[in-house]
Amino acid sequence: MICVGTPSQQDGAVDLSYVISAVQQTCDALGKQACTICIKSTVPPSSARDVLQPLLDGYDNLRLTNNPEFLREGYAWQDFMQPDRIVIGSDCSQALNTLERLYRSFSSPIHKVSLTEAEFIKYLSNTLLATLISFANEQSQIADTVGDINIQKVFTILHEDKRWHDSSGTKKTVNMASYVYPGCGFGGYCLPKDLQALINQAEKQGFTPNLLKQVNEVNIGMIDYHAQKIIHHTKQDDKIAILGLAFKPNSDDVRDTPAHKIIAALLNGDRKNIQCYDPEAMTTFTEHYDFPIAYKPSLEECVTDADVIVICTAWQEFTHLEDLASFTKIKQQDKFFDLRYFLAT
Ligand SMILES: NC(=O)c1ccc[n+]([C@@H]2O[C@H](COP(=O)([O-])OP(=O)(O)OC[C@H]3O[C@@H](n4cnc5c(N)ncnc54)[C@H](O)[C@@H]3O)[C@@H](O)[C@H]2O)c1
Repeated sequence: MICVGTPSQQDGAVDLSYVISAVQQTCDALGKQACTICIKSTVPPSSARDVLQPLLDGYDNLRLTNNPEFLREGYAWQDFMQPDRIVIGSDCSQALNTLERLYRSFSSPIHKVSLTEAEFIKYLSNTLLATLISFANEQSQIADTVGDINIQKVFTILHEDKRWHDSSGTKKTVNMASYVYPGCGFGGYCLPKDLQALINQAEKQGFTPNLLKQVNEVNIGMIDYHAQKIIHHTKQDDKIAILGLAFKPNSDDVRDTPAHKIIAALLNGDRKNIQCYDPEAMTTFTEHYDFPIAYKPSLEECVTDADVIVICTAWQEFTHLEDLASFTKIKQQDKFFDLRYFLAT
């Protein structure tokens, strides 16, 4: 099982060097021993056909498979152990059977597909999620521009559409509905890079994916949209409390997190008095980014002397803001910016 990183290159294409190196190391280590190699890293469709399979030339004992991972960060164990579907791809029926046996104790449906289909399904999934988020974000900008629209309320009502509900009649929205909700853009290690990768892949094949390119543009634009709004409503020496640094709640992952872009845009806009708090991601944030800002050990300490509050990540803990007197004052002064449309308005 190879699950090494597949980061973006400058042009958005995927850097496959870690996967290539892991496959080569595996080949060297195995020698003539028979083995099924499974790529679990997210690799662009046709990577196996064009790049990885040729590495196995001369190794009749090795078979290549692809098994995309659909887990959500923050729910890795739960999603891995209870997958909604298991996709195994190979152009060799023996290798497909090996992987099928590996997963036989799981009750989820197992789909046997080709290598390229397995690779594509992962991008199909992630670029749909990215599209839903950018759709919601653009709609929130339209609503904001029109005015007199409570964005939280209208999206909550949108979710009442029965097509967003499970069929059991519980009136509970399906998980997908949570992606049709505005915020400050998607971040993290997967959606931005996978979206870029599919755009890049399509363009290399001579096809322009207009919709996906706009999904990306809308996402990039969200940072500036929110940052300019904050800059417009604040004074240069206002103390700004940034709440949430992780790219999503229940995770300490700060890779490509919207918070770092918001902070960079505020610093760039001469809002230099910034302090921040995150329940889990402060250490990883300081390891990844070097901003001249203060880090506070608690929610209370971060907001007590602040003039402005900005929520960048919808941590459950931030619902306690409503119990703090300083928050009420800041809210009344219109200096509270809930970039996740999270707290009740
Ligand atoms: N993070 C997620 O939620 C998630 C979900 C689905 C798919 N994926 C995909 O899984 C892959 C890994 O993602 P991640 O978030 O775990 O990345 P990561 O960067 O956190 O982890 C990758 C690990 O691979 C190690 N590594 C690199 N080269 C190696 C080699 N030759 N031999 C052994 N180890 C090596 C690195 O040291 C690192 O620990 C990516 O392709 C990603 O797109 C991630």
